[in-house]
Amino acid sequence: MASMAVTVAGLELANPVMSASGTYGHGLEMRHFAPLSSLGAWVSKTVTKKPRPGNPLPRICETEAGFLNSIGLENRGIDAYVRDVLPDMARAEVTVITNIGGESVEDFAELAERLDSEAAVAALEVNLSCPNVQGGKLPFSTSPAMAESVMRRVRAATKKPIFAKLSPNVSDIGEIARAVEAGGADGITAINTLLGMRVDWRTRRPALNTIQGGYSGIAIKPVALRSAWTCVRAVKIPVIGCGGIGSPEDAFEFLVVGCRAVQFGTASFTDPSRIAHLADEMSTLLDRAGLAAVTDLIGTLHASAAVAKVPGAPS
Ligand code: FUM
Repeated sequence: MASMAVTVAGLELANPVMSASGTYGHGLEMRHFAPLSSLGAWVSKTVTKKPRPGNPLPRICETEAGFLNSIGLENRGIDAYVRDVLPDMARAEVTVITNIGGESVEDFAELAERLDSEAAVAALEVNLSCPNVQGGKLPFSTSPAMAESVMRRVRAATKKPIFAKLSPNVSDIGEIARAVEAGGADGITAINTLLGMRVDWRTRRPALNTIQGGYSGIAIKPVALRSAWTCVRAVKIPVIGCGGIGSPEDAFEFLVVGCRAVQFGTASFTDPSRIAHLADEMSTLLDRAGLAAVTDLIGTLHASAAVAKVPGAPS
């Protein structure tokens, strides 16, 4: 079988498949559908300083392709996470990446400091890009200065690897990628959801209580792929691809453009156990393609001169 092992920011992972934050709770819920040990790494739902009830219902709705959510970072807060979740996750035989979110630079730094001493946590994913809080203004992921500032403070607060999760809702994601790298990020997750909305034309009401929300699912894959590729070209730190990945072939596209790992999210709502089989399916496909290791695919895109000259394409 083709080797599936990858190293991402110093984390040695059995395979490049990760859960996407928010799609399987904190991990304990997922065990009913798939063994956590089948993943290269487990990424938690965002944890915040204080418990959050999330946004009012309705806060999720289907669309023709994928769905919209406006959960609003519902979670029980860092104390409950450390007390009730981490002990079980420590026994789960999986690399745990805890996703953290805050309303201020200080919030992020405090959470990083608190988790620095938790042995069960291998790394942090810093959620700079939730579109469903702070009025959807995305203050930490649309300004290079703010993005850099958060990562700099988180960097100072922990020795663990830190990944910045970026938003596609910007004109130049490469600029934000460079800013988080300058702030000390060890890696980037690209991308979070796209801002979107849906209305019922008969009632004239929005489908989500917050009117707009984050759009995810197969339809965003081309946007996510292009964003991840842009980040790969902008920085030296590793990029984890996320957005619309639902099959081994989808994952391979992200690896070819240079991502070192991939996250699987919205597709799990159709089949929560699918994620457990992805790495094996990828390995089988690599065998058939005559490749000995998944790393043989990473960054192998043949970008022609013509492609590089597309107006506006990152250099
Ligand atoms: O609203 C939410 O909890 C979504 C979070 C995110 O997309 O980062």
